[in-house]
Amino acid sequence: MFSERIVKSLASGSMIRAMFEQGNALKKLYGPENVYDFALGNPDLEPSAEIIEDMKALVSQPDIHKYMANAGHADVRQKIADFMKNKTDVAFEARHIIMCTGAAAGLTITMNSILNPGDEVIVIAPFFGEYRSYVTQYGGVIVPVRAIPGTFQLDIDAIGNAITAKTKAIIINSPNNPSGAVYPEEDLLKLNSVLLGAETKYGQPIYVVSDEPYVKVSYDNVQIPEVASIFDNAIIVNSFSKSLSLPGERIGYVAVNPLIKDSDILVDALIYSNRTLGFVNAPSLFQKLVADHLDDVVGLDSYKERRDVFYKILTDIGFECTLPKGAFYLFVKSPIEDDGAFCDMALKHNIVIVSGKGFGYPGYFRIAYCVSMSQITGSKEAFAALYKEATGK
Ligand SMILES: Cc1ncc(COP(=O)(O)O)c(C=O)c1O
Repeated sequence: MFSERIVKSLASGSMIRAMFEQGNALKKLYGPENVYDFALGNPDLEPSAEIIEDMKALVSQPDIHKYMANAGHADVRQKIADFMKNKTDVAFEARHIIMCTGAAAGLTITMNSILNPGDEVIVIAPFFGEYRSYVTQYGGVIVPVRAIPGTFQLDIDAIGNAITAKTKAIIINSPNNPSGAVYPEEDLLKLNSVLLGAETKYGQPIYVVSDEPYVKVSYDNVQIPEVASIFDNAIIVNSFSKSLSLPGERIGYVAVNPLIKDSDILVDALIYSNRTLGFVNAPSLFQKLVADHLDDVVGLDSYKERRDVFYKILTDIGFECTLPKGAFYLFVKSPIEDDGAFCDMALKHNIVIVSGKGFGYPGYFRIAYCVSMSQITGSKEAFAALYKEATGK
């Protein structure tokens, strides 16, 4: 028979992907223009013209399509180390950077490198549902801690209470998918104190795995603190899927804080994991491409406009939602208790949204607004009808 672990996981597979499939089925039935599909965080914007031009030029570079060191191109790692050092004042060198195939792989190689069976990883709910697989497939145990309702900020006391002798890491994701919350520096400093206390108590490090695919996607001049400057035990996982609109190209990096004890062993473990989990190395051409666009971001104004329009449509109807400060999702309170039932009800109105349960935070649903403005404005009546059906108002 096949792997029991995987077959079991299939049953509880990604809700986002399940809704994505439901959306496709509806589109076949009713035509794509009649379905309001807000399931997937797949940026609708094309990469910039400059990126496309650079891509074309790179295609014919000598040696670009060859195997390389599993950690990636040396010059690319150097450029990223310089960029990180400049941003954080932490002494990053090229040897602390491992190129990987997007944040998903960055998290996967990190968990493979740090976890022993039974180790616990704290995640802040609501969280990107795939964390469950990234942690459990390497024998880890996921420990969700609820963010503060409404603001979705860190509940520092609750995190402190969740730490045990088995806590190996905490994953933070700011700006957050799905809530759009950005954690202020003040809270991260408090979290650092709690972690330092626990490290002393249990005599072992607790790694702060900072999942940062949305770090450049933020609005209203909100300050995004540098996680590597705050936590000595930070492992930064970055990706260009969202910032450069390149999710299909699978490119990102892991940066290991040089202050981590035995950081050279951790780096070797990450490189080993990159190779033996079958990634081998991150896509060669895209490594070279992103190295010259580390701080670029596509379409911020356009996302902000869509955020504002959608937020107004929903709150005018009566939905409760906190205005997100980053990423491109709205995390909205379900008007009925059962958010799964609400998402099923939405399908009858040709609206595809994802239930909060998939993010470990029932009672809410997620909307991905990285879709055309006409989809957003076009969905207004359908949302109003859905709200009426759910509440009678
Ligand atoms: C919070 C979060 N982490 C990681 C990922 C994976 O991103 P990547 O495409 O870089 O693998 C996503 C993708 O949506 C995400 O939302």
